[in-house]
Amino acid sequence: MSEAPVSLQVAHTWELEPELLERARRLLYEVFGDEAAAEDWDHCLGGVHALILEGEAVIAHGAVVQRQLTHRGRVLRTGYVEGVVVRADRRRGGHGGEVMAALEAVIRRAYDLGALGASTDGARLYSARGWLRWTGRTWALTPQGLVRTPGEDGDIYVLSGTAELDRSSDLACDYRSGDLW
Ligand SMILES: CC(C)(COP(=O)(O)OP(=O)(O)OC[C@H]1O[C@@H](n2cnc3c(N)ncnc32)[C@H](O)[C@@H]1OP(=O)(O)O)[C@@H](O)C(=O)NCCC(=O)NCCS
Repeated sequence: MSEAPVSLQVAHTWELEPELLERARRLLYEVFGDEAAAEDWDHCLGGVHALILEGEAVIAHGAVVQRQLTHRGRVLRTGYVEGVVVRADRRRGGHGGEVMAALEAVIRRAYDLGALGASTDGARLYSARGWLRWTGRTWALTPQGLVRTPGEDGDIYVLSGTAELDRSSDLACDYRSGDLW
């Protein structure tokens, strides 16, 4: 195990040194594979990043960006979590949890609701932290109108803030390029 000091940095995209941002991007590409990662990385930009550094190396990253989710006719200002990754040789050491704690603090102070689309590994981390699975149907508000996103049903998790939610009913996300959720 490395002796390098481990530190957490939380900053908006514009505040991060381009070189540090580039190291975070490379970690995301390393974990997700180049093809999927380009849009995943794009989805992280313009939000607040939480990075864990071990010396100069970025060993964990996550970001929260603003999106609008619609639920029961209400538009909810949502902190949407993206790009949560921990370097493979540093997993199960609490780094994912530390990144999430920083992002959850942003969500609690700035948004009505937290939300994210979970991978299998991610779902275990988020459930352990009190995030709740959305059991209702998922949708996206696209230029063609409201469309169902059945492939995402069961993979969306929320962290309720001020918004009142019925997790067995419908939830719709706003439009964007790449994965809608
Ligand atoms: C998901 C991921 C970020 C977790 O990071 P991590 O640093 O290993 O997570 P932590 O060590 O903070 O885990 C905290 C708790 O979450 C749960 N948890 C996290 N990963 C888990 C896993 N793979 N299996 C079971 N429980 C898990 C456990 O309760 C764990 O506590 P414990 O180790 O004391 O049992 C990491 O596995 C990863 O980068 N995976 C690949 C990319 C990915 O899928 N990212 C999520 C996208 S939605």
